[in-house]
Amino acid sequence: MILVTGGAGYIGSHCVLALQEAGYEVVVFDNLSSGHSEVIGCTELFQGDLTNLPDIMAVFEGRKIDAVMHFAAKIEVGESVIAPQKYYYNNVYGTLNLLNAMKEFNVSKIVFSSTAAVYGEPEYTPINENHPKNPINPYGRTKLMIENILDDYDKAYGLRSVCFRYFNVAGADTQGRTGEWHEPETHLIPNILKAGSGKIFEIYGADYDTKDGTCIRDYINVENLAQAHLLGLEYLLNGGATDCFNLGTNEGSSVKEVFAACEKITKSEIPVKIHPRRAGDAAVLVADNSKVKSVLGWSPKKTLEDSIASAYQWEKSLQGVLIA
Ligand code: UFG
Repeated sequence: MILVTGGAGYIGSHCVLALQEAGYEVVVFDNLSSGHSEVIGCTELFQGDLTNLPDIMAVFEGRKIDAVMHFAAKIEVGESVIAPQKYYYNNVYGTLNLLNAMKEFNVSKIVFSSTAAVYGEPEYTPINENHPKNPINPYGRTKLMIENILDDYDKAYGLRSVCFRYFNVAGADTQGRTGEWHEPETHLIPNILKAGSGKIFEIYGADYDTKDGTCIRDYINVENLAQAHLLGLEYLLNGGATDCFNLGTNEGSSVKEVFAACEKITKSEIPVKIHPRRAGDAAVLVADNSKVKSVLGWSPKKTLEDSIASAYQWEKSLQGVLIA
């Protein structure tokens, strides 16, 4: 059985579905602070909080957990700057409790949801895994701290881990079972798709040193990302050593390009205006994904257009839920 912390969240829920489709039994642990139980159907859900050690101990009690996928975390860069305590407490302390429980119950494999934010301001692009790690906000620092803790736990206790450093995750389940559902929403594609009926999409800065002046990001499809997690899990189950991998496509798209693709796919004119830059945004963030390709045999299959199309379907059903 695989324990998925944060399994009711955006990325976690896609991984829950992928695990089940691959034949794994899954138990989800989530405090539902930002996750939604609706997106995991009838998967077993244990509602608890990682910062409360007895909660997570109770999940391991009486269950044979073979490995853990760990997504539960606070994830907003901006919020992490104004409320760092929340981030260190939930992300770092919460993970320490999870690792305690794993150690106590002899569970020695974990797939960890990390981020490109561990690299900080890019010194070169595309970014490979050896790029210096100088996160520029508390969110990125918590993720890097956890990566370091995992390394130390491997050396001392034999806990093996795969850390995936995500670039910009996009899209939704093509069967419409789950998708991006953040409140408030800060991410680019859902924000573009939510514009209209009086709401104007804002481009955060059009004066960057890029081809069209807007920021360039590497958008990776969430279903493809979930497949990488399955490969990471199988790698650990087959005895693979602790390692970190970028998850991205090697290709960058500008905000204006993403916006144009959204207008094309939705066949609508989306209201837009240029806004000043958002603090902390790097001009270009693109992954070098050669390591995950060669070690895990993963490669991105879906295009940015595929991601936007599935995100659009999801957004329409979400608006139906919210209105209903
Ligand atoms: N953007 C806009 N308008 C919006 C929202 C975003 O112009 O309404 C722009 C941003 O300025 C940025 C790009 O779209 O240039 C992508 O922004 P997102 O907020 O969608 O994603 P980020 O690149 O800021 O963040 C993502 C993850 C973080 C992670 C980071 C790693 O969401 O969790 O990548 O660098 F930390």
